[in-house]
Amino acid sequence: MRILSGIQPSGTIHIGNYFGMIKKMIESQDDGELFAFIASYHALTSVKEKEVLEKNIFEAAVNFLALGMDPEKSTFWVQSDVKEVLELYWILSNHTSMGLLERAHSYKDKTARGIQANHGLFSYPVLMAADILLFDSNIVPVGKDQIQHVEMTRDIANSFNHAYKTDVLVLPEAKVDEIVATVPGTDGAKMSKSYGNTIDMFGTKKGVKKQVMGIVTDSKELDEAKDYTTCNIYKLCELFMKEDELKELQVRYATPGEGYGHFKLTLLEKINEHFEPYIQRREHLLNNPKEVKEILAFGASKARKVASAKIEQIRELVGLV
Ligand code: ADP
Ligand code: TRP
Repeated sequence: MRILSGIQPSGTIHIGNYFGMIKKMIESQDDGELFAFIASYHALTSVKEKEVLEKNIFEAAVNFLALGMDPEKSTFWVQSDVKEVLELYWILSNHTSMGLLERAHSYKDKTARGIQANHGLFSYPVLMAADILLFDSNIVPVGKDQIQHVEMTRDIANSFNHAYKTDVLVLPEAKVDEIVATVPGTDGAKMSKSYGNTIDMFGTKKGVKKQVMGIVTDSKELDEAKDYTTCNIYKLCELFMKEDELKELQVRYATPGEGYGHFKLTLLEKINEHFEPYIQRREHLLNNPKEVKEILAFGASKARKVASAKIEQIRELVGLV
């Protein structure tokens, strides 16, 4: 079974990204053959500054490698290092109706918010279909917002297969994990970089402490018992603590004498403890960009092997040899 994941290279990542997406992706390396890439071409639809794009791609690579992406076991590359995808994108464009693209929610949402549409944004789902189909992907784990893109991929693949009386393109399934709860931010709303309520994964010690100390609570005093069931600190502790540690924390909430500041420090300690090993590996990679480049070049060469065989097959089918 082949699993394919595309990751938008966004600058900083927070613990919501980690528990919501990254951790699962890393773990999926044990479920099947993982193909994972940094969606650098897709990022061009929103990032128009060279330095920002370069930095985001590099940092995404470093973050995923530090967090356990195994370049031997899996195939991990930067999308724009395997240009075959663009050829498939063009071929598939000729089997994608305007109506299909016009119905895309993400495109409609963006234009409704006043983002000036261009062809890249409009045809984004065709490039995503090419990503998926070029690698014969069976399973595509995605968030809810991306399900429609996987359905469009199936539509496009069906049109192509029908036109050439073939089954060369494998129909993918979207896999949406409903179990992972939304990680709350420091204000209790969904943690998101656009709400400014994040706890960063690789922030400075001082910065992360500031974010944790800024978690919103009620104003109960030291000498009052506190309710853990409605507390934002406790909700975040649940991500880092085992059952017995949580039980212990519940007792501390029920017993007057400690304030929220104490619970925040407990949480901070757990966060630091949890990410410490990754921080060291990340520092190493950040300081050795050549090593990162080599890993990505190795990943691209593995991906290209699969991609070039597939594109040859497709070129042949359509009459491009
Ligand atoms: P942000 O909302 O900070 O911009 P993104 O939209 O870039 O985050 O999300 C990247 C990935 O992380 C997505 O797969 C998304 O489902 C996951 N994710 C983001 N925030 C959370 C959260 N608060 N809880 C769980 N998963 C999240
Ligand atoms: N569109 C996806 C996102 O915004 C990223 C992506 C690009 C992707 N190509 C893909 C995801 C192929 C899965 C498969 O998150």
